[in-house]
Amino acid sequence: MEEYLNKGIKEIINKYPEIEKILDEHGIGCAPCNVGTCLLKDIVEIHNLSPDDEQELMAGIAGIIYPDREINIPKRKRTAQASGEIKYSPPMKKLVDEHVLIKRVLALIPAVINTIDIDSEAERRLVIEVVDFIRSFADKYHHAKEEEILFKYFDENLDILKVIHEDHENARGHVKAVLEAVDNRDKNTVVNHLNAYKELLTEHIKKEDEILYPWMDRNLSTHDVGELYYKFNAADLQFENVPEKYEIFVNSLEDKFTLKEIIK
Ligand SMILES: [Fe+2]
Ligand SMILES: [Fe+2]
Repeated sequence: MEEYLNKGIKEIINKYPEIEKILDEHGIGCAPCNVGTCLLKDIVEIHNLSPDDEQELMAGIAGIIYPDREINIPKRKRTAQASGEIKYSPPMKKLVDEHVLIKRVLALIPAVINTIDIDSEAERRLVIEVVDFIRSFADKYHHAKEEEILFKYFDENLDILKVIHEDHENARGHVKAVLEAVDNRDKNTVVNHLNAYKELLTEHIKKEDEILYPWMDRNLSTHDVGELYYKFNAADLQFENVPEKYEIFVNSLEDKFTLKEIIK
């Protein structure tokens, strides 16, 4: 069985097509998924199956691969959940992880504001680079996954989603205002809108991490969770090296301000 646990699910389905039916019975739609790179051992993790469901699914799969043998199903190690810790499904965890990079930039906004010299081209460029991160990573890459994929699984007229949409729109408004103010060399407006953006996004991320995503996880079916994970990965493919590029940018921004602190 160990040998198959480390094989891609597509490869296993190709060899044993009956396994597709067993996966379907557990709400796991691997056959229509075009990625198919998930290993069999990861399928239960990705789809958040309960220990009982996991054992039943694995026993069914083992029965097809080894019809004449009694197979011992290895128990997967589950990471213990600390009390108060929120357990996210894999697609939701992906969004929470993306928040971490956004929060690192939010934490640097006061330092950017403190050193800003609106008459210096290099300082204006720095603000424009921060805005580029917000637009390309926080908005296009991250918010697009939320708005164009995740929220479609819910009634978008729900108050909770209206609030989240409104936050996204207000954030876009602050970003637009920062860029206009940079063009006009209006330092006060740049500072006000960067501060407002920081405050808004800090609360927004808290709302999503602590309320919205856990609520969504409770209301998504096992099938939805798997489908979401596939759709997120497919969407990410269109962004190529965006996460790596902006991780490098955030590292360099942190280095720059740490260095400034040391020199001071
Ligand atoms: Fe959001
Ligand atoms: Fe978010």
